[in-house]
Amino acid sequence: MSEPRQILVTSALPYANGSIHLGHMLEYIQTDMWVRFQKLRGHQCIYVCADDAHGSAIMLRAEKEGITPEQLIANVQAEHSADFADFLVDFDNFHSTHSEENRELSSLIYTRLREAGHIANRSVTQYYDPEKGMFLADRFIKGTCPKCAAEDQYGDNCEKCGATYAPTELKDPKSAISGATPVLRDSQHFFFKLPDFQAMLEQWTRSGTLQDAVANKLAEWLDAGLQEWDISRDAPYFGFEIPGEPGKYFYVWLDAPIGYMASFKNLCARRPELDFDGFWNEGSSAELYHFIGKDIVNFHALFWPAMLEGAGYRKPTAVNVHGYLTVNGAKMSKSRGTFIKARTYLDHLQPEYLRYYYAAKLGRGVDDLDLNLDDFVQKVNSDLIGKVVNIASRCAGFIHKGNAGVMVAGDAAPALTEAFLSAAPSIAEAYEARDFGRAMREIMALADRANAWIADKAPWSLAKQEGKQDEVQAICAQGINLFRQLVIFLKPVLPALAADAEAFLNVAPLTWNDHLSRLENHTLNPFKALMSRIEPAKIEAMVAASKEDLLAAEAKAPTGNGELGKDPLAAEIEFDTFAAVDLRVALIVKAQAVAGADKLLQLTLDIGDEQRNVFSGIKSAYPDPSQLEGRLTMMVANLKPRKMRFGVSEGMVMAAGPGGEEIYLLSPDSGAKPGQRIK
Ligand code: MSP
Ligand code: ZN
Repeated sequence: MSEPRQILVTSALPYANGSIHLGHMLEYIQTDMWVRFQKLRGHQCIYVCADDAHGSAIMLRAEKEGITPEQLIANVQAEHSADFADFLVDFDNFHSTHSEENRELSSLIYTRLREAGHIANRSVTQYYDPEKGMFLADRFIKGTCPKCAAEDQYGDNCEKCGATYAPTELKDPKSAISGATPVLRDSQHFFFKLPDFQAMLEQWTRSGTLQDAVANKLAEWLDAGLQEWDISRDAPYFGFEIPGEPGKYFYVWLDAPIGYMASFKNLCARRPELDFDGFWNEGSSAELYHFIGKDIVNFHALFWPAMLEGAGYRKPTAVNVHGYLTVNGAKMSKSRGTFIKARTYLDHLQPEYLRYYYAAKLGRGVDDLDLNLDDFVQKVNSDLIGKVVNIASRCAGFIHKGNAGVMVAGDAAPALTEAFLSAAPSIAEAYEARDFGRAMREIMALADRANAWIADKAPWSLAKQEGKQDEVQAICAQGINLFRQLVIFLKPVLPALAADAEAFLNVAPLTWNDHLSRLENHTLNPFKALMSRIEPAKIEAMVAASKEDLLAAEAKAPTGNGELGKDPLAAEIEFDTFAAVDLRVALIVKAQAVAGADKLLQLTLDIGDEQRNVFSGIKSAYPDPSQLEGRLTMMVANLKPRKMRFGVSEGMVMAAGPGGEEIYLLSPDSGAKPGQRIK
């Protein structure tokens, strides 16, 4: 094999204001498989990522939750890290863009760009929310479309007629944050002079760094001529203040890609063998790859290489772009239950099923990829269980029973051995080129041949015949050797299966080159089932739970949509509004779990003159619902009844806490009577 390479790999930094879903996972799994392949081949490959923690969306969400942005991003980082770990995505470092390393590097890069004359500044007129006291990004302005007069459209485009416009063209504009009518205001902004890099980018985007489809798309922008890029935002903003410009902050997309460097720098402090400058300085011989989705190409293939060049750093070796995930042929949909969070999937299914399915469907292109749930079950069961695991489970028993677990020496199928060996370079090539689909097809073709050979030899019949024991042992040892090679080829995709197989095979962690050797006169450990079939019922449960996630989210936002500005917590209300809420003491007469709902309890509440049926998402805190029976709580009695999948919910009980096990149902002092109004 060639010289060990030094490779730094990144996935896009997920926003710290939401949960990871299966669309995101397409990217992290794709990257992780590629990184694991490089490591398996003996290269020094470092995989870093981070949460993208800045921006007004994060500031506003923290405000709404009544916590600081720092608390919000710490909570989300813990959630994201657990999701990735449980999907076997093995980052060398998962950091945050809200970090000291990133502050320093962002300042440094900005300062170098400014000193080299690549920063301009001028006044910009923008909508300003006078009540909230902040400038409004386009998506925080709503109004009537200037083209088709559809109401309630966002500041930059109309969902009804598809028109795009400047927010100042909207009729009857309103702040989506406070509802106030925005006013126009001037402010100084800072710009990165992207046109300075036109020639470099024309050359760089055509130098093999990008897939053709991506380069072609970018050529349209380049041909139209590049614009200066606004990199500043006014306070209040959650981000880094621009050095020497009090009250001005870096726009989140300025410091986000620098977060790749910052995460690596943070890792270098723990891993002395890694040299930050060696990877990042101009002329570095290390390779640098960014894996991203097709929606963020301009940031990575125009702004980012220009920033790096302008600040004297090396540029990426390649930017690898993937398409979007669809589920059952359509955009992920909350109401269809196909907007599936990483955690919801993990609650029901093994991570490696999805890793394999994504691998089988991923090519080098930017096409969208469909997760068809029926096909998913069928393919995983037939390939992984029916083909790969099957070889080991067919052969292991005979070796244990007939030869005390010892694999005999000798090659019982030289043609097959040869086929496996000669397929390896092509499989490696496919991995290297991110053509995981081709790699999986070639591996499964080998598995088919191995199975066909074993079926033909039928050791189970031979075992019943006199004097055939040597033949049985030779066949089964060969079968296990072929299985071992398949495990090596699949290890980047199925690391947990590989670890279990290594335990069964009684071998040290396998590397790519181990496929060149075979096990002979070697003792196996007892065989345990390596993977079980996907039961279709698990898929149904996952889809049902995803619908429930939606209901839980809606229950949190009583107006029916979780939009900013519509949350009553966000704004002051008049006394009359408060007085209009019918708050009552309620006696919990009955509390029970709801079949098919992981999070809900069904409560029967006595409010004096009547009984109410209420569904409440508090099961995680009260796994034994009967403990609630007989207890007093408080309810909103005049909430509009809400039709749910399980029945009609007639009101809402009141609880505090962040969720999960920490949900605390409110109770009145003793002496309160069911039905009494709370004032
Ligand atoms: N924070 C930015 C990236 C900054 S990188 C310096 C961002 N975050 S994101 O959370 O919205 O997306 C993270 C990655 O997930 C992006 O590469 C995005 O393309 C990818 N995906 C998000 N939804 C996806 C699908 N439905 N399907 C496939 N990839 C998806 O963008
Ligand atoms: Zn319109």
